[in-house]
Amino acid sequence: MEKKRFLSGDRPTGRLHIGHYIGSLQNRIKMQNSGEYEPYILIADVQALTDNFNNPEKVRKNVLEVAMDYLSCGIDPNKSTIYIQSLIPEVAELTVFYSNLVTIARLERNPTVKTEIAQKRELFGESVTYGFLGYPVSQAADITAFEAELIPVGEDQLPLIEQCREIVRKFNSIYGETLVEPKAVLSKSPRIKGLDGNVKMGKSLGNALYLSDDLDTIKEKVMGAVTDPERIKKDDPGNPDVCMVYYYHKLFSNEDTCRNVCEECKAGKRGCVACKKQLIEEINSALSPIREKRHYYEERPKEVMDILMAGTENARKVAKQTMVKVKKAMKLDY
Ligand code: TRP
Repeated sequence: MEKKRFLSGDRPTGRLHIGHYIGSLQNRIKMQNSGEYEPYILIADVQALTDNFNNPEKVRKNVLEVAMDYLSCGIDPNKSTIYIQSLIPEVAELTVFYSNLVTIARLERNPTVKTEIAQKRELFGESVTYGFLGYPVSQAADITAFEAELIPVGEDQLPLIEQCREIVRKFNSIYGETLVEPKAVLSKSPRIKGLDGNVKMGKSLGNALYLSDDLDTIKEKVMGAVTDPERIKKDDPGNPDVCMVYYYHKLFSNEDTCRNVCEECKAGKRGCVACKKQLIEEINSALSPIREKRHYYEERPKEVMDILMAGTENARKVAKQTMVKVKKAMKLDY
């Protein structure tokens, strides 16, 4: 039996952080290692340009950074096809075809697009570009070009997957059953809060903990984490449920440690500084193998580029096959 394909990716606008890792990367790695799927991982440089068209250098530089993050946290090029979006022209072609199947009003109602437009006022002013408003259409092309069935992503991506599903249904109802309708796969913690207490961790929010952060950086970020504001003295009883240090212990520490943190905090028997120091150890032991592997690739950018090129060649073959089906269905098979 053919393996189900899964596909996911990231915009190369910066290094990947813990939010990406826990929200979706870990799921991709698990699915990859199960051997049950055929994985495709894209570095979405064209999509990154939709909100960085004025900064091509940044996108170019981060293609390599994201690729190194992938390789160092366990995406294995022998098991997964890792590729660069802009080198698959079929995706651009599909985007044009799909743009007839989606209305401007529907794009403007997409909650993810709406939130992002609000955050990018400085770039877009009063009027957003056609390219940015339309990026869900190109994301639908990314997914359908590979006939991907499963999409491991963070919660913020759900409206984009939903919009892709609508495009697929519309395409199939007009041109005949051709495209595969994908499903999102969410992790247990699809959205990670920042150490500052923000509901989301993000590069632009300035609260991200990066996979590549060194011990000193981790220390600095964790020492600045928001704890229970009502707890003034060390032996005051604390409320772990409002404390970001406890929240992060739940992400990085084992059950016993979490239980101790919770009980000792409530009893006023655990100081915040000691609790933070313990968390620093836990985070550092999770990140240090990733960091070490990353150093290896940082010294060998050519090896990373070769992996991307080999993946892209493989990916292109698949996208071409889908294109033949799509053109036939649309009577463009001259
Ligand atoms: N939108 C994703 C992000 O913001 C990147 C992406 C592009 C993607 N195409 C995709 C994710 C297809 C999943 C499937 O990082």
